[in-house]
Formats: sequence, structure tokens, C-alpha cells
Amino acid sequence: MRTLIVNGTVVTADGSYQADVLVDGETIAAVGTGLAATVTADETIDATGKYVIPGGIDVHTHMELPFGGTFAKDTFETGSRAAAFGGTTTIVDFAVQSKGQALRTGLDTWYAKAEGNAVIDYGFHMIMSDVNDATLAEMDQLVAEGVPDFKLFTAYPGVFYSPDDHIFRAMQQTTRNGGLILMHAENGPAIDAVAADLVAEGKTDPYYHGVARYPVFEGEATNRVIRLAEAAHAPVYIVHLSVVDALNQVRAARDRGSMAFAETCPQYLFLSIDDLGNGFNGAKFVCSPPLREKNPNWQELWTGLRKNDLQVVSTDHCPFDFHGQKELGRGDFRKIPNGLPGVEDRVDLLFNGGVLGGQITKERWVEIISTEPAKLFGMYPKKGAIVAGADADIVVYDPERKRTISADTHHMNADYSCYEGWEIQGASDVVMSRGSVVVRNGEFTGRKGHGKFIKRATTDYARMV
Ligand code: URP
Ligand code: ZN
Ligand code: ZN
Repeated sequence: MRTLIVNGTVVTADGSYQADVLVDGETIAAVGTGLAATVTADETIDATGKYVIPGGIDVHTHMELPFGGTFAKDTFETGSRAAAFGGTTTIVDFAVQSKGQALRTGLDTWYAKAEGNAVIDYGFHMIMSDVNDATLAEMDQLVAEGVPDFKLFTAYPGVFYSPDDHIFRAMQQTTRNGGLILMHAENGPAIDAVAADLVAEGKTDPYYHGVARYPVFEGEATNRVIRLAEAAHAPVYIVHLSVVDALNQVRAARDRGSMAFAETCPQYLFLSIDDLGNGFNGAKFVCSPPLREKNPNWQELWTGLRKNDLQVVSTDHCPFDFHGQKELGRGDFRKIPNGLPGVEDRVDLLFNGGVLGGQITKERWVEIISTEPAKLFGMYPKKGAIVAGADADIVVYDPERKRTISADTHHMNADYSCYEGWEIQGASDVVMSRGSVVVRNGEFTGRKGHGKFIKRATTDYARMV
């Protein structure tokens, strides 16, 4: 099957230009002007007035994550389909090692969840809950197998939390095996102390989830794990960075030449602690780190994205229904499952608020939603690029189309949207995954099981600073 995309503006991280794109089978065969006159194709897609961009890559999702006595509601089928509707063609999900388990057991569980179900390509990071001699040795095997990143937590004592010596040991292991440590950087024990005080004072509403998790607790943990990584001569990637205190730690580290990288998420650019108010309705917005004060955080995060102190915007997609799941925390905010639905809206929110909002160029938009995640996570130039030889993961994007975000029309498995009623501009018309059109004009045309596991390479992080 050959598909020719004509008359579009190809937008890449490096620049934008008029060109046609020829797809042959699963890959991009040619990019150039006037291809229609020289090649034949089974289908021609007219992209007049549209952008032709590499498919979005969301490197932070949690399909079916066990959390707070329940499970994130999207499966690989429903979650990857929702991602595709939103112009994302690759996700990297977090496999979970439970305490006492081998990494292998957790990873095999995630292979089984995804295989035959995902509609777009996927990779895995490994959550390490238990660092010991056996799991440290297992890390080398996972790196060789194409799962080269490991998430550890300074948050969630008793669940995913690791003490500093375990984090340092895991970092040392990646120095040897070329992998990358991803850190959830919040001071969990300090947060738990404040949260216990708040609950004892009768402050049990979701709003206090935001109050308990002081910005300094994120800043302190971010600085700590970066310093540990420096001591181990290891790269480190801070996930879901939410606040200026933490951003300043990353800035300082990068200024002194450290291999420190970080992502933020749409919820930290567009939502605020005010959303956690409104009684128990605020439970819809409970995630960790929490939503922060709008000022100065939103603008500082945008500045961080512009200046490359933040390299990626992912979603941390982790959807729970309001009814039945978030409600587990009525009367005690500590029991609200942490996480938000988001995988479907990232590309459009970033276009609407970022590009049209005057915060970033459309080239930087492509870079932070696709190209940089591909580079940092060992998929470039197979993913994240519109070049001959790359996977034909392509989105024909309409920068003019307007839509209203709503739980009534979204495809994520969540009974609410954090952006309910928002009117935004910019939407994916055609979404192609390895040469197959999976979404066309709002209709799903893909296939469960089309998505393949992406064996990812390690990266030369020193060259990425
Ligand atoms: O609230 C969040 N972020 N839930 C998902 C788990 C995590 O920490 O990423
Ligand atoms: Zn986390
Ligand atoms: Zn997460």
C-alpha cells in the first residue's frame, strides 16, 4: 500500500516547508516537492492548509496502573485508541514491579496487557519498587531487551518509595549499563507528615491534597536526586515537574553541565490548585505532584519549555472515574486515587495554548510532543521524524479546526474531563500509524493489535544536554 500526502506544510523540529510525503508500506519512502507528478500511490491525501507532523509520542502513561486500591481505567486498547484520536502514535507506559517481585514478573505482566490490544506502538519503562542485588542485576537484562529506563520514587512511602541509597544504587547501575533513571521527585515522608496534620484538623477535602504537597517538597527532592545522579555520573530525568522551585533545580543543574532532563504535563500548564477546590468535585483534579498556583508557575514552565530546561511534555495519563474511584477518598483526601485522564488532549492543548497562545513556535511544539521524546527515549529517527526511512507515524493536522473538549465525546475511559467545555483550535484530521490510517476525520479506522512493542535503544545523554 502506497499513500501520498500532498500539498501540506511539513512541520518538524528543525523547520517547516511545503512538501509531499510518500508512504510505502510501513515507512516513509520520500519527502519532496512535486512527488505527485513522479510517483504513483494507492491513495492520495490532500493536506492543503494542513500541517504534516510526526505522530505524537507520549512517554508517560499508566494503563491499568494499580493505585489506591483500584486500577487506572484505560486498558491498552481503550487508552491507545484515545491517544490515536488525539494525534499520538506512540506511548511509553510504566510497567510495575511490586515489592518483593522480580522486575521480570512485572514487565511480563505489562507485555501481556499490551500485546494484541494496543492500536498504536508502545514501549515500556520499568517502575522499580524494590532495589536489591537481584533487581539491580535484572536492570542490565531489561536495557538489552529495549526497556532502558527505570522510574523510582521519593514519594508514596510504603508503596513505590525508595530511600536515597536505593536510588543511588540504581543510578550507579545505569552508569554501567547505559540506562536512564526517571524520578518522581517529591519528599513523600514530609508530605505524609503534613497530610496527617491536616486530616487531624478536619481538613479532609481534595483541596488539602494540594496544600499538603508543598512546592519546596518537590524542589528539595528534585535537587536531591539530581545531586545523587551527579555523584553517580548518571543522567536523570525528572517526570511530571510541576513547580518553579523544582524547575530552578533543573535549570541550575543544566547550567553546571549535568545530564539532568525534565518533562512537564499539560495539567501543570493549564490547571491550578483552584481546580482542587469546589468541595469533593476537586477530587477530579487530584494528581501528584498536585496542581499548583497559577502564578508564577505556568509562565515559568512555558519559559522552561522555550529555553529547553524542560525538554518534553507528556501526560502522566492515569484515569480514574469520579464515580466509584475518586470517591474512595470521600472524607480523606489521602485515599483519592492519584491521576488524571489526559492522553487524548495533549497535542491539541499544546497547540491551542502553546502555539496559538504565543508561548512556543509550531516547530518547538513538534519537538516537545514528538521529536525530543523520540531522541531521549531511544526511538529517533524511526519515530519523531518526517524523513525517508522513518516509520510512517504521521498526523495531518488542521490548525484551524475548532472543537469542544468533553467527557461526552472523548475516548478515554473516564467519566469526566479536566477540560470540560474548553473550546480549542487545532485537531488531527488523519492519524497514521506505521502506514495504516488509524483515525480519519474523527472516525476510528485502526485495529486492535496493530500496535507493536518498540524495542528502544539507550541514548548518549551527554550529547543531549
Ligand atoms: O498522580 C499521578 N501522577 N498518578 C500516577 C502515578 C505517578 O506518580 O506518576
Ligand atoms: Zn509519578
Ligand atoms: Zn506517572
